[in-house]
Amino acid sequence: MRMINCFLAAAVCLGSAASAGASYTPDFDNGVDVRLAIQAAIESAASAGGLLPAVPAPQRTVWVSMEKSDVGALDGALFKRAPVAQNKRVAIYEFEPADLDSLADGMYRAFRRDPGYFAHDTLEAALEDLKAPPAPPSRAYTIDQGPRVAQLLALVKEEPIVAAISRLSSFKNRYYTSATGVDASKWLQQEWARFAANRPDISVAPFKHAAFAQESVILTMRGTTEPEKVIVIGGHLDCVAGYGDNPAPGADDNASGVAVTHEIIRTLVEGGFRPAKTIKFIAFAAEEVGLRGSGDVAAAFNKGNVAVEGMLNLDMANYKGSALDIYFVSDNTSAAQNAFLGRLLDTYTEYKWGSFKCGYGCSDHASWTKNGYAASLPFESLFNEHNPFIHKATDLLLQTGGRAEHAFKFARLGVAYAVELAK
Ligand code: BES
Ligand code: ZN
Repeated sequence: MRMINCFLAAAVCLGSAASAGASYTPDFDNGVDVRLAIQAAIESAASAGGLLPAVPAPQRTVWVSMEKSDVGALDGALFKRAPVAQNKRVAIYEFEPADLDSLADGMYRAFRRDPGYFAHDTLEAALEDLKAPPAPPSRAYTIDQGPRVAQLLALVKEEPIVAAISRLSSFKNRYYTSATGVDASKWLQQEWARFAANRPDISVAPFKHAAFAQESVILTMRGTTEPEKVIVIGGHLDCVAGYGDNPAPGADDNASGVAVTHEIIRTLVEGGFRPAKTIKFIAFAAEEVGLRGSGDVAAAFNKGNVAVEGMLNLDMANYKGSALDIYFVSDNTSAAQNAFLGRLLDTYTEYKWGSFKCGYGCSDHASWTKNGYAASLPFESLFNEHNPFIHKATDLLLQTGGRAEHAFKFARLGVAYAVELAK
């Protein structure tokens, strides 16, 4: 019983576990997160008293925050409950995790897309969403690493992207609560650990989530001269088809984004690149169920005062549905960083780009924006021309002819971004 209360009132329990190890200071620069220490404290308490199992208990309540304009357009049956809290813009509701499926379906019926919501483990975390997100500090973006970028761009390859999409989409699914969803995260941790060979500046660590078993994965490339400044590059590793343990290859949504992240790392390692600032490559758990994985990670970075200078979200990169090559999502992102990314494409590639609005927090960049960081999402197509197979059993690599020509462009953009921002 104590364990269940602990997960329902995670803030209280985390607080007491953290104070038990009072001398601990989180060291994000080594890919170590305070939650790992907390987890260790919980596990050692469990082995001492035999009270806590290592596996999280099924969670009974989730707190969902939504824009009130979206709530108004939804089927009232879903909201036969009063909001727990609200202001002019946002309302917070309590849901059983099982109700989230009908919420997602109801959203799809109303909008032909999900309006987007944030799901939280604790009420305390959900209440934070009532605050307007802080604006990231303004900064100068310069482009002056021509020879280095050119040398590295020549090393980017399509074949490793194909291989990574193929492997990730071969799991039955990567759903955040399924056994294969956990396996996929473990596989990626092993795969990325290979990049750490002969590179003491590179480390790989899981980011464990209190409410579900699938782990986010963090590869840290420690900066040489300004390691406290951090650039985040990554995308979500989970996927979904009809919610639950159904076949869901998720080749485009979002094995493609994880594979592009993988190819950016591979290229930088092959080229012997050592960034001045720290780069953290992150594959997020549990995006498809309310940005929960990135929500936890971005909130932990914010709480730990990690100086994130920019976040590049890679979500859906391999389906060329529209005329131009890359489209930047213009809402819930940083206009200044989006403009910088456009200039990177103009300077280093022949790719043509545009932009569009999702109209809601459609992916993990929104978690970083909410925590006051400059985030961007370069996307594969216009919103209404995106891959029609996503969230279905047919989201397969076959749909792009077994190729990754489109995703290749995103890997080149990511390499240029890493070099010019982490200098
Ligand atoms: N990759 C999608 C986001 C997306 C889809 C952006 C199509 C642009 C066009 C992402 O994995 C996703 O499915 N997001 C959810 C919202 C989330 C808050 C649960 C969505 O858009 O339905
Ligand atoms: Zn999706």
